[in-house]
Amino acid sequence: MDKTSLTTSTPVSAPFIPDHAPFTPAQRAWLNGFLAAIFSAPRAGAAAPAPPPAATKVKVCVLFGSESGNCEALAKRLAKVAQGKGYDAAAKGLDKIKLHDLAKEKYALFVASTFGDGEPPENAKEFHAALLGGGAPRLENLSFSICALGDTNYEKFCQCGKDFDAGLHALGAKRIFERADCNVDFEETFQQWQEGVFSVLDAMAKSEGVAPASANGASPKLEPEQAPEAAATLAYSRKNPFLATLLTNRKLTSGDSAKETRHYEISLEGSGLTYEAGDALGVFPTNCPALVEDVLRALNCDGEEAVPAPDGSEAPLRIALTRHYEINKAPPPLLQTIAERSADKTLRDMLDPSAKDALKHYLWGREVVDLLVDFASAKLSAVEFVGLLKSLQPRLYSISSSLKAFPNQVHLTVAAVRYESFGRKRKGVCSTFLADRANGAVPVFIQTSHSFRTPRDGGTPMIMVGPGTGVAPFRAFLHDRRATGAKGVNWLFFGEQRAATDFFYRDEFDAMLADGHLTKLSTAFSRDQAEKVYVQHRMLEHAADLWKWLQDGAHFYVCGDATRMAKDVDAALHSVIETAGGLSRDDAEAYVQKLKTDKRYQRDVY
Ligand SMILES: Cc1cc2nc3c(=O)[nH]c(=O)nc-3n(C[C@H](O)[C@H](O)[C@H](O)COP(=O)(O)OP(=O)(O)OC[C@H]3O[C@@H](n4cnc5c(N)ncnc54)[C@H](O)[C@@H]3O)c2cc1C
Ligand SMILES: Cc1cc2nc3c(=O)[nH]c(=O)nc-3n(C[C@H](O)[C@H](O)[C@H](O)COP(=O)(O)O)c2cc1C
Repeated sequence: MDKTSLTTSTPVSAPFIPDHAPFTPAQRAWLNGFLAAIFSAPRAGAAAPAPPPAATKVKVCVLFGSESGNCEALAKRLAKVAQGKGYDAAAKGLDKIKLHDLAKEKYALFVASTFGDGEPPENAKEFHAALLGGGAPRLENLSFSICALGDTNYEKFCQCGKDFDAGLHALGAKRIFERADCNVDFEETFQQWQEGVFSVLDAMAKSEGVAPASANGASPKLEPEQAPEAAATLAYSRKNPFLATLLTNRKLTSGDSAKETRHYEISLEGSGLTYEAGDALGVFPTNCPALVEDVLRALNCDGEEAVPAPDGSEAPLRIALTRHYEINKAPPPLLQTIAERSADKTLRDMLDPSAKDALKHYLWGREVVDLLVDFASAKLSAVEFVGLLKSLQPRLYSISSSLKAFPNQVHLTVAAVRYESFGRKRKGVCSTFLADRANGAVPVFIQTSHSFRTPRDGGTPMIMVGPGTGVAPFRAFLHDRRATGAKGVNWLFFGEQRAATDFFYRDEFDAMLADGHLTKLSTAFSRDQAEKVYVQHRMLEHAADLWKWLQDGAHFYVCGDATRMAKDVDAALHSVIETAGGLSRDDAEAYVQKLKTDKRYQRDVY
């Protein structure tokens, strides 16, 4: 059938504006919705379409790729909204669907984040590989739209969502609404995307003669707190953090350590909040007052100027900069405006795409205040300035306690970010908020992890690789297993710079070793000998044992630094499997893939 024919009396699919048509993405999305609606309307001379069978519901697959839970929560909300509008919708992880099953579906909405260095989240890796690899089925039957979550601080912003969008399109699936790329404050963009998607979907479903029960109604808006799992348990959430009491703030590093890593104990008393070992705590910080004063001085402001806060309310500039906006890292819109207004054209030159490396080099160790000082000829009003900033975001910390061992408490293991550059002492916002400025009260929420968990069977062996603050969830795992009486053997790899000053929780781990709860503890202190030794070197030294534990069904966990450590540990794991297991490179790769598929290789890296 000619898809664009307007004369047929049977329902036809609406035509699509192709990507190469001379429209902006927003115009194209609007036109697609308009065409879908036109094609759904009864046509002159045409027989009225048969009324939909009462029980028919249009099926919409809502699929999520999510590592730390944002996309999962949004997908569940989206499915609820779809159900409220009369669709047959359910949210499903991308690890729960195969491409050939997707090929049979008509409508799919994707919500997917990006992790690592532009990689898909763990539960979307297989789907991503299948979609972009050879041999994927054609998806001509499918109409889709994608909401991508990411963070503009990463070079490969929303890369996974972009990959899905291009991959689905290349296989013949029809994009019914332009992809939305959401930054960390994703709520508004997500809401706009959701409304846009349903305006098109409602019209398309109607054109199929199977309009959902309430397709003409406005999208019921669900607040994040109404997400199914949240509504059941949590009154406190990211949108409504709990002001918790900071009970303990203790330095874990000692003497002349180059690091300042601290142990925090926070009371959840009265909040009703619960968590599982493997979850993270979200902490809302405030900025350092001394930095706020430096920024005010550089702006030539007294701090009393009224400016909009991100939620639309009004606040004096000093308060807004302390509580509501990121003032460390300079965001692209600020760079752009300063470059345009400055008499000095250095920044303008560095913003040219060909000078990417020079810009990166200039920005390393420089913050908003440096930009204001270095390009002082660029004048900005207080209102203009905050309009160019990003809203202050909470930071996540792997929880290092178990509720079963420490009722009503949550413990954290946090490295304070402090360094000096270009003549200024710099402080990471949240890690120094906890260390120096929390004053006994910390706004927090629980960020549920959906995969980073102890094995269900308490008898399963665990291998945990957690150098530095990466040890945090493994302290939680060990306390949790002790509290539940789990009998499985436990092996911890820990590493830091020096045993004398940086061996966190040494007494606890020694006691666990002594009573047999911790079966093996392998440490790597990089600066205690002439040659640098890291956890991956210890893994290679213990290759035969590691292989045996894996063959005995051990789960393998990694937590901590994503940029180098996690990659080196991954390479060491492959090497252990090749050398001790005697597998070829390809078979070792397949073995690791199988560990991942079986959820026996889990990572919490940042
Ligand atoms: C799931 C998850 C779990 C985490 N768990 C933990 C945990 O258990 N413990 C922990 O300590 N952290 C953890 N983190 C990291 C944590 O969330 C914060 O990123 C960290 O505390 C830094 O935040 P900040 O606000 O103090 O620093 P920010 O204000 O965000 O500043 C950090 C930035 O400062 C810059 N910077 C840092 N050092 C230098 C330098 N020497 N020179 C130039 N620039 C520099 C870099 O741009 C860096 O990105 C976790 C992160 C995630 C996502
Ligand atoms: C360790 C880490 C790596 C990340 N890497 C990227 C990235 O490469 N590109 C990007 O756009 N966002 C990146 N993000 C941001 C996440 O995509 C973003 O926080 C998103 O909201 C997470 O959604 P989720 O909770 O559903 O996984 C990263 C976040 C973390 C913690």
